[in-house]
Amino acid sequence: MSTKSFRVAICGGGIGGLCLAVALSKHTHIQVDVFEGAERFKEIGAGVMIWSRTWRILELLELAPHFAKVADTQPDPAVATGFEYRRSDTKDGFKWNLVAMPYAFAEQLPKGLAHFRRRLVSYEKQAGGEIALTFADGASAVCDLLVGCDGIKSVVRAQMLRVKAKEDAQPGLLNLIEPKWTGTIAYRGLIPSTNLPSVDGARHRTLASPMMYCGQNKHVVAYSISQGNIVNFVAFASDLNRKNTAYGAEWVTNCSKDEVLQCFGGWESEVSLLLEREEKPTKWGIHHLEELPFFVTNRVVLLGDAAHGMSPHLGAGAGQAIEDAYILAHVLGAAAPKSLDAALEAYQQTRLPVANHVLRSSYESGNMYEFNSRFGDEYSALGPAIGHQWDFLTESTPEGEAEKAMRILRSLERQGIIRERL
Ligand SMILES: Cc1cc2nc3c(=O)[nH]c(=O)nc-3n(C[C@H](O)[C@H](O)[C@H](O)COP(=O)(O)OP(=O)(O)OC[C@H]3O[C@@H](n4cnc5c(N)ncnc54)[C@H](O)[C@@H]3O)c2cc1C
Ligand SMILES: *[C@@H]1O[C@H](CO)[C@@H](O)[C@H](O)[C@H]1NC(C)=O
Repeated sequence: MSTKSFRVAICGGGIGGLCLAVALSKHTHIQVDVFEGAERFKEIGAGVMIWSRTWRILELLELAPHFAKVADTQPDPAVATGFEYRRSDTKDGFKWNLVAMPYAFAEQLPKGLAHFRRRLVSYEKQAGGEIALTFADGASAVCDLLVGCDGIKSVVRAQMLRVKAKEDAQPGLLNLIEPKWTGTIAYRGLIPSTNLPSVDGARHRTLASPMMYCGQNKHVVAYSISQGNIVNFVAFASDLNRKNTAYGAEWVTNCSKDEVLQCFGGWESEVSLLLEREEKPTKWGIHHLEELPFFVTNRVVLLGDAAHGMSPHLGAGAGQAIEDAYILAHVLGAAAPKSLDAALEAYQQTRLPVANHVLRSSYESGNMYEFNSRFGDEYSALGPAIGHQWDFLTESTPEGEAEKAMRILRSLERQGIIRERL
């Protein structure tokens, strides 16, 4: 028989759900289960970056040594390189800015209390306060707290918003269920470095520095991964008029090399030579969420992309999911079972404003790289503005945010639970 004082069900074993599971499993009074719809945990993909702030959270969670083993780049800020920005939609590009410190890293899969092929279809609040979960295969489970870590197409978010829209007579909330197409598509490719062309007799620049090639309505991000053995590129093209329209295709499809080359016709050879080397590019419809007004209702919580799925232009989605997990685990670990609601409120008050800010900034950054922000292509103003988009990384610290969440929790505990959520 379990002696745990409360049960947390984590729906979705992506980076957010797994990070939360690992962090919570250190609190012996909490029972943790991860319900993953797929047959196994998936890798989030080659070339996903995290920043030193996220690395700090992994250190605080005592996960950094595990990540170091599988990371591409050792997380040493002294050797990390920033992006080099070039205007490239003409035949001769030029350098115009340098910011930030990305770390390429490969995923590591923490062990956990995982249940596979458990695709949540719905949940229901029971009279006694428990939450009953129903899975696609007919299986069921109960918990005291449900955390929806089920990605940008979250079924937990959908149900939460439907229930809240009805309870509060706010039909507008229903518009927040579906992710919105940003009007941007992305072509992605991975090229072995040995296949990379030299440009004017020199080693391709992406091997020396992460590159951001900018153009009107388009930009290409390229950097090496796997100890420099592979170059990862993502080539974006945007149609502002189609923002928030239906994408009208699967989000990820195969596409032809010709389509990519046609899209970037007229770009400097450094870029076109790179795109030419990918025989099997994939095409992505870039979607994001509209900002949610809450991440928590009735002992159901959203975390990661389920709460704030964002465009990839600040490389921040995984970092924000990890930040959510860190704060939520911190307050849940410190809260008595009777102050669970106060802990959830502290999580929401700490994370919602920041995560929504990053979601908004990420979209704006995409516009900046493509000369569609209010700065146009006025490089002298645009350069610093792009730099400031990353201020969220340094304006606070993870430790400071955890302390802030604890202050909110303790203050709510002192006042007694602010409102009855059962
Ligand atoms: C093109 C692109 C590039 C990106 N580049 C970066 C980058 O450089 N840096 C960065 O930080 N981020 C990047 N991201 C974003 C990052 O990948 C996500 O923000 C991150 O993976 C979100 O993690 P998550 O755990 O919230 O959701 P997911 O990773 O989406 O995980 C959700 C999990 O839930 C499972 N699931 C879904 N529905 C159910 C259900 N009903 N029941 C049970 N399980 C379910 C899924 O199988 C999955 O395992 C990029 C994204 C894209 C699309
Ligand atoms: C896309 O291409 C890969 C191989 O590159 C193949 O395995 C996959 O089936 C293709 N998908 C579709 C939908 O054609």
